[in-house]
Amino acid sequence: MVMRVFVAGGTGAMGRRLVPQLVARGHQVTATTTSAAKLGMLKQLGAEGVVMDGLDAMSVGEAVAAARPDAIVHQMTGLSLAHAGKPDFRHPERFGALANRLRTEGTDHLLAAAEATGVSHVVAQSLANWPANREAGLVTEEEPLPPEQLPAKFRIMVEPIHHIEDVVVKAGGAALRYGGFYGPGGGIEDQIELVRKRRLPIIGGGAGYFSWVHLDDAASATGL
Ligand SMILES: NC(=O)c1ccc[n+]([C@@H]2O[C@H](COP(=O)([O-])OP(=O)(O)OC[C@H]3O[C@@H](n4cnc5c(N)ncnc54)[C@H](OP(=O)(O)O)[C@@H]3O)[C@@H](O)[C@H]2O)c1
Repeated sequence: MVMRVFVAGGTGAMGRRLVPQLVARGHQVTATTTSAAKLGMLKQLGAEGVVMDGLDAMSVGEAVAAARPDAIVHQMTGLSLAHAGKPDFRHPERFGALANRLRTEGTDHLLAAAEATGVSHVVAQSLANWPANREAGLVTEEEPLPPEQLPAKFRIMVEPIHHIEDVVVKAGGAALRYGGFYGPGGGIEDQIELVRKRRLPIIGGGAGYFSWVHLDDAASATGL
């Protein structure tokens, strides 16, 4: 079914791969940026671009109401150099501060706008890395990883992700737990650079691992 889709965060690593996929499937896409300078990029991707501040309830409400979407996709994170500065895993609470707000306040604003405009179909970005535990394996929904097992600074990053999953699922939507992104515009190149510069902290014996997902596969999981 052809739909009107509202992509909050259409210019990010995921948004840039997701928007053309949605357009190719015939959907009419409205996509957001915080910068008028990126409206041209959104047009090139095939979307109608709109400037929106995800932390401003009125801005979100107006953008969603004007787009009159059938579905809303939340891809706002604020983790790029422009928004968060250089990746700093020693201070995730600083580096991830904007992402945390977009995952909590931003999600709440989008859901409020969805409710106000009668949109029941919401898909949001979550992360698969956190429900995993080296000793316990993949923890289940019934026995989640106790938050106290995480270092305090990482708890600050995990709680907003739990918030997304909690409120989006309660609203009848879906939270997609992505792996780490790789592919065009994905973050793996940055990670390699950090390893080269010896700035990626090695935890414990260094035997841990990350799971990755290609941006195009993650985008196709949106299911629209
Ligand atoms: N699962 C994962 O591995 C994962 C998840 C997320 C990000 N990352 C990585 O982190 C790096 C940066 O991510 P990114 O390229 O997606 O950029 P980003 O800075 O995280 O931005 C993502 C989207 O959020 C939007 N945004 C930022 N602040 C906003 C606000 N106040 N209101 C509304 N929208 C806002 C951005 O719009 P504008 O910039 O146009 O304003 C952009 O469309 C990439 O390397 C990416 O792969 C990885």
